Amino acid sequence: MKLKILVVAGDGIGPEVTGESVAVLKEAAALGGHEFTFSERRIGGVAIVQDGTPLPAATVEAALAADAVLLGAVGGNEFNSLPPDKRPEAGLLGLRSALGGFANLRPAFAFKELAVNSPLRPEVIDGADILFVRELLGGLYFGQPREWNRAAGEAWNTMRYTKDEVARVARVAFQLAMKRRKKLTSVDKANVLEVSQLWRATVNEVAAEFPGVAVEHQYVDAMSMHLMNRPRDFDVVLTENLFGDILTDESAVITGSLGMLPSATLGGKVNLYEPVHGSAPDIAGKGLANPLGAILTGALILRHSAGLEAEAAAIETAVRKVLEQGFRTPDLARSNPQGYTVLSTREMGARVRETVKSQLLAASV
Ligand code: IPM
Ligand code: MG
Repeated sequence: MKLKILVVAGDGIGPEVTGESVAVLKEAAALGGHEFTFSERRIGGVAIVQDGTPLPAATVEAALAADAVLLGAVGGNEFNSLPPDKRPEAGLLGLRSALGGFANLRPAFAFKELAVNSPLRPEVIDGADILFVRELLGGLYFGQPREWNRAAGEAWNTMRYTKDEVARVARVAFQLAMKRRKKLTSVDKANVLEVSQLWRATVNEVAAEFPGVAVEHQYVDAMSMHLMNRPRDFDVVLTENLFGDILTDESAVITGSLGMLPSATLGGKVNLYEPVHGSAPDIAGKGLANPLGAILTGALILRHSAGLEAEAAAIETAVRKVLEQGFRTPDLARSNPQGYTVLSTREMGARVRETVKSQLLAASV
């Protein structure tokens, strides 16, 4: 199988972690006799500095010509005073919108081996396995009008959804729920917001197409608490853009580190894959970053853009095995009571690669 992957590594730890993800993908491709080609383009702060814009036209063009786009992270403190449309983050939002993917899948799961990293008690998180489906192209992030009117001392954004925008992402979430535990929780603020009332009514309409899926609705404030109190009760969680942004960072607490979480954005012209974590400028370039979120993001490319389920599962199993063997990046070994072996970004990548290799070789005999 052939796959053209565009890598937009971006800022901070982006280049380090995507480098490890690419290396794992190359290993999996070589073992399976697949032909993956990788090219690179700039996005975010690095593009502001070198190209004068957070999203150069060449990046969009290459992304649209690829089969999948792997993004690292964007953002840096030196850009914090810029207006929203000039910041590194605008590059990412522009790329999301150019690619058109509206369903952002963000799994949040407990790793037995990482339970000690979570401030939640092991018996609360044990077995938790949630799949967030975050709407990615609407809501406050993209709604018009938006403005900071400095003269008037007033600013506004607009949370806006059309029925079609809600229905299409709801359908993706229901389809995923059918393949999982057949439970869907839709999160909104329908006790206050009209846009949430439309959201809820539309989700209920789509639910009629999926009688096998049990649906519940939660208000976002209550949901933020339920996720910490009883994360095991949730299967697929469907929500709008900003609520999804917030709840998915919160849910990293279940896993123990934001550095573990992958994401895939589906439904557009080209799928976009990015770890949930940010650019972490404070640790960039020091070999301290956790590449596992980026590596697990690579697994999602194999699953959703290449149909290589066995290879995707081999990467996921390899990550679990490496953790079982006691290997940790510094973020996963803040306290080190168990005598973990603390690895650098590259060492961790190499461990996973080796393990993927032995997994796939064992499977082929
Ligand atoms: C995320 C990030 C982005 C978002 C930022 C970097 C624009 O926080 O992917 O969750 O808000 O969507
Ligand atoms: Mg976020």
